[in-house]
Amino acid sequence: MEKVLVLDFGGQYNQLIARRVREQHIYAEIKPYDRITPEEIKKAKYKGVIFTGGPNSVYDPASPHYDPEVLNLGIPILGICYGAQLMAFMAGGTVSDAGESGEYGKTKLSLSKSTIFRGIPSGIDCWMSHRDFISKLPDGFKTIAVTDKCPCAAMSDVKRKLYAVQFHPEVTHTEYGREILTNFLYGVCGCSGDWYVEDYTGELIEKYKTELAGKKVLLALSGGVDSSVAAALLSKAVGDNLTCVFVDHGLLRKGEGDIVEKTFSGRFGLNLIRVNAKDRFLEKLAGVKEPEQKRKIIGEEFIRVFEAEASKIGHVDVLAQGTIYPDVIESGKGDSAVIKSHHNVGGLPSVISFDEIVEPLRDLFKDEVRSAGEILGLPRELVWRQPFPGPGLAVRIIGDITEEKLDTLREADAIFREEVGKCEVLPDQFFAVLTDTRTVGVMGDARTYGYTVALRAVTTDDFMTATWTKIPYDVLETASNRITNEVLGVSRVVFDISSKPPATVEWE
Ligand code: XMP
Repeated sequence: MEKVLVLDFGGQYNQLIARRVREQHIYAEIKPYDRITPEEIKKAKYKGVIFTGGPNSVYDPASPHYDPEVLNLGIPILGICYGAQLMAFMAGGTVSDAGESGEYGKTKLSLSKSTIFRGIPSGIDCWMSHRDFISKLPDGFKTIAVTDKCPCAAMSDVKRKLYAVQFHPEVTHTEYGREILTNFLYGVCGCSGDWYVEDYTGELIEKYKTELAGKKVLLALSGGVDSSVAAALLSKAVGDNLTCVFVDHGLLRKGEGDIVEKTFSGRFGLNLIRVNAKDRFLEKLAGVKEPEQKRKIIGEEFIRVFEAEASKIGHVDVLAQGTIYPDVIESGKGDSAVIKSHHNVGGLPSVISFDEIVEPLRDLFKDEVRSAGEILGLPRELVWRQPFPGPGLAVRIIGDITEEKLDTLREADAIFREEVGKCEVLPDQFFAVLTDTRTVGVMGDARTYGYTVALRAVTTDDFMTATWTKIPYDVLETASNRITNEVLGVSRVVFDISSKPPATVEWE
C-alpha cells in the first residue's frame, strides 16, 4: 500500500491534511516530528512527505526543527506554511518577520508554471495565516507563486522534488487547494491511489479472523458510531466469540437503546448483553446539579456496571475498543495502551482480566469509520448518528435529573431532530436542552407554568469551534409549535444563537 507521511510540527490543520490525502485514495499517517528520523522515513518507503504548519517562528530556539538530511532522501516533500519556512531555513534560505505585512485570511495569489499548479488558473484566492515569510530563497529553489505582500508564496526545487507553499491548500477557502494536493501526490510523488475503505475493511476482517481465531473477545458497546462499527467488524471476524456489553444508563435519546439492541442481536446476531441500569444511575444522580459531578458519577457508575457484567463472563482473551485515529493522535502518539481520557470506559482494563487489547479502527478517521459502517451493513441511523456525549441527556438537563424530566426532554429532542432532519443541509449537531427555568404560559383559557426548552444547532468542522446554524424560521416554527403542543409540561421554546467560543456546544 502506498503511504504518505504528514510530519507534524504542531499545526492546527494536521488531521485535515491527512484526511485530504486519504480522500484522494492515498493512505496518510501523521507522526510528530520528534518521533521519526529521516532514516526511518526512508525505511518506511513513504511515497511523499508533507510538513505541516505550526505556530512557531523558525528562529525561535524552542521551535521544532528537523534533520536537513530529509531533504536529500529523494522522497518528494511538500512544506505548508511553517513547513514551507522550515524547508527554506533547512535548505539555507532566509526567513524574516513581515511585521505588519503579515497575511491573514483570503489572499490573491499569482501562480507561475509548476507541476503542483498544473491545470489551475494563474490567479486564485488562497488562505494565508503567517507573519514570517521566506525572504531569501535557498540555492536550487525558484519562486513559483507570489502575493502583493509576499515575494515567495511558493517555491520549488524540481530536481530534489521539494515544494513549499506559504498558504494552506488543505482548507476549502483556498481555491484549487485539492488540485494542488492532487498534483503533488500524483504528479510529483507518483502515487497511483490504492487506498479504499472497502478493501481495508475486508482486509481487517480477514486479519482478525486469523489473529483472533478461537479467542474470546469482549467489547463495551456504547451505541456510538465507533464502538458500533468495531462490533460489526469483529462480529464478522470472530462471530460467536464476540460478546458485547451495552450499558443502557437510561440517559439515551428516544428509542436509541432499542435501535442498538435490535441491530446487534438481530441482524448481526452477536452475543449482546444489554444492562438496563437506569435505576442505578438515577439513584446516584438524584439531587445532583453540578455538571462535572454528574459526569464523574456517570463515568464511575458505568465502570461499576460493566465490571459486574464482565465478572460474570470471567476471563476474556481480548478486550476490544472503538478507538479511532484522532484518539490515537491526540492521546497517545501511537501508544496502543492509551485509552481516551474523555471516554466513559476509561479505566476498564485495570479491573478486567484480559490478555490483549485490539482496536480495529485505530487507523481510520471518523468519516472512514462511517463508510466502514455502511459497508458492514449497519443502519444509517447508527452510522450517521451525530456526536452524543457519553453522559447523555444528563448534561442536557440543567439542574437535577428526574425520570420525568428525562421523558420531557426525550420527546422535545425527538421532535426537533425530526423537523431539522427534513432540511436539505443538516447542522453537524442539533438537539434540545431542558432548562431549569419555568415560565408562565397560556393554554386554552388556563394559565400554565411549564419548562423552557432550548434548541441548539451548530455547524463545525472539529467541534473545537462552532457557529450556530441558521435554521430556517419555518422549521423552527414547526418544531416550537409541535413541542409546546405535544410535550406536556413545556410552555416555551427558545433558540440558542451563541457560537463557540465563547459558549460551548453543550449547555453543561
Ligand atoms: P462542548 O460542549 O465541549 O462539546 O463544546 C464539544 C463536543 O463534545 C461533546 N461532549 C462530550 N462528549 N463526553 C463526551 O463523550 C462529554 O462529557 C462531553 N461533553 C461534550 C459535545 O456533544 C460536542 O460534540
